[in-house]
Amino acid sequence: MHALLSLLFFLSLSLVEADVVARFQDVPECLEYFYQGKVPEWGATTPGAARLCQRFANRYHFATLYDTAHRIAVYSAYRFQPSNGGGREKRWFVEPQLVNSSWAAEMKDGYWLGKDNPDIFLGERQALNEDYKHSGFDRGHLNPNGHHAVPGRNATFTLTNVVPQNPKFNQDAWRIHELDLTDIFRTQCSEAYVLVGAVPSTDNWIIKNNVRRVNIPDYMWNAYCCVDANGRPVLSGAATARNTEQNRVDQHSLTELSAFLQQFDTSPVGQLFHNHCQA
Ligand SMILES: *[C@@H]1O[C@H](CO)[C@@H](O)[C@H](O)[C@H]1NC(C)=O
Ligand SMILES: *[C@@H]1O[C@H](CO)[C@@H](O)[C@H](O)[C@H]1NC(C)=O
Repeated sequence: MHALLSLLFFLSLSLVEADVVARFQDVPECLEYFYQGKVPEWGATTPGAARLCQRFANRYHFATLYDTAHRIAVYSAYRFQPSNGGGREKRWFVEPQLVNSSWAAEMKDGYWLGKDNPDIFLGERQALNEDYKHSGFDRGHLNPNGHHAVPGRNATFTLTNVVPQNPKFNQDAWRIHELDLTDIFRTQCSEAYVLVGAVPSTDNWIIKNNVRRVNIPDYMWNAYCCVDANGRPVLSGAATARNTEQNRVDQHSLTELSAFLQQFDTSPVGQLFHNHCQA
């Protein structure tokens, strides 16, 4: 009996500590990053998609739908937190469970995971730091580090949360857009639920040794749903941008964003937020 209880306890622990999950709904803590616990249908049928509950320093911080074929995220989902400073994380993390599902359920510094496993290629189903080196592209955050307090801020430095981003666009128009959102979230929302995604290109890649390693997305987009202290939706918005020197962010309503995304998929975009973030 005791052994059985221990086994059940162990099983429930290991369930709770999964990083790569079959469904976000399987991990209640992971669902908390989606407004009303409702996971969008957008991207759900992406071939080779993996669902990541982003775990760091012993707890979850956000969720990512990751496209293991293009080696970039479809989107990351998070709740805004005011930053408390704390500097920039210097490491770049990778997801051990995308290498081997029995590996540790927490993001790991890719440098040391590689050193510890010299005979295993970590990059079959995810991008690695060396893919980005000398590529001419930034490691552009989807879930931005500036929208979190440490240690959530550190956790955004996982390569499963970044895409090859035009450096000028990343450091100028998109950065300013993220700062504008910070102002809105701080002043007008009790809680803000955010989705940030990328639309992959048909045939534009970071190529290393003649191998197509990381897809360079054509567009980046984001969407938010803001609620008041009673959890009632009060504000929503969205934006899209070409991932180019054009360095311009276009503001949209959620409805306009849905129409934009619909160009890239035959199945309906559906609700990005429960009831389109309406009361
Ligand atoms: C988060 O990053 C900061 C800045 O690099 C670092 O000082 C801190 O130790 C990191 N926190 C954790 C839990 O690793
Ligand atoms: C995954 O890791 C486990 C434990 O280290 C090992 O026994 C197993 O062979 C690995 N699986 C694959 C497919 O490499």
